[in-house]
Amino acid sequence: MKAVMIKVHEVWLETLMGAFMSNTHNKQTLFDFADILFRHFTWIENALIKSGEEYSYDRDNIPIKVESLSILLKDIDMRLSDIDLQLMSLEDKDLANRISSDISYIRNVLSKMHDEVISAFTMQRVMEGYSLSSEATDALTLFLFEESYKEYELIMIYNYLKAHSDDAFMNRIFQILIDESMFHLKCFGDMMAKMGILATPRVVMRELYQVTDVVKFLEDGIDEEIQAKEECKRLAEAVASDNEDLAKFFDFINNQENYHIALMRDALNHYKEVNDIE
Ligand SMILES: [Fe+2]
Ligand SMILES: [Fe+2]
Repeated sequence: MKAVMIKVHEVWLETLMGAFMSNTHNKQTLFDFADILFRHFTWIENALIKSGEEYSYDRDNIPIKVESLSILLKDIDMRLSDIDLQLMSLEDKDLANRISSDISYIRNVLSKMHDEVISAFTMQRVMEGYSLSSEATDALTLFLFEESYKEYELIMIYNYLKAHSDDAFMNRIFQILIDESMFHLKCFGDMMAKMGILATPRVVMRELYQVTDVVKFLEDGIDEEIQAKEECKRLAEAVASDNEDLAKFFDFINNQENYHIALMRDALNHYKEVNDIE
């Protein structure tokens, strides 16, 4: 079952990358399928926890550099067919059937998708309609690489914490933070594809999500969010004179981080209260 979870993790990311690459109405469909596959991932994880089987978020690298979308779609299809066969290993037959039914629908839709020429890997570092100075371009490039990984990391960490907690108060907050990071990841991934610098985020180290000290984790997390805000502010300033829309976008992201900080403070206070920590 552990092997299936890893495969679903990989195909979720690959499908998400496909959505970033697409510039047509395939895009939304691929985003939706990526969301469905992420949910499958969490359900299989839940089944693993219930059965007491140990697992991690380790996975293989996912090669995504393609010149046409159909090549990626074929690979996604291969992975899905492989997962479908391995679903047999799930004890929960209802869950296996549910996932299998989604997979067969997804595969059918993928097989009918029209092909697209992909420009997500050209390295040209220019976004259509935006003219940025080379300093602003460098700042944006660095930001996108760092922050896209960071958002993926946060998704995995909060997902892990949520999977291992049955505290409804905490889980509500973890879920909001997962959703928000998904949104940020989608924005940044899309920009990377537009700039021709799309890349899959690297694997998250176990120590980061197998959190033993929740208080310290949340305190550090709040500091990190404050830093993320600063990064956004700096970037908004760096691009402000070149492009107003982009500056406004990074202000918007920056302000969203305020809410994350507030939520994490709520979670911290609640956790301390429940566990009698000063
Ligand atoms: Fe963020
Ligand atoms: Fe955040």
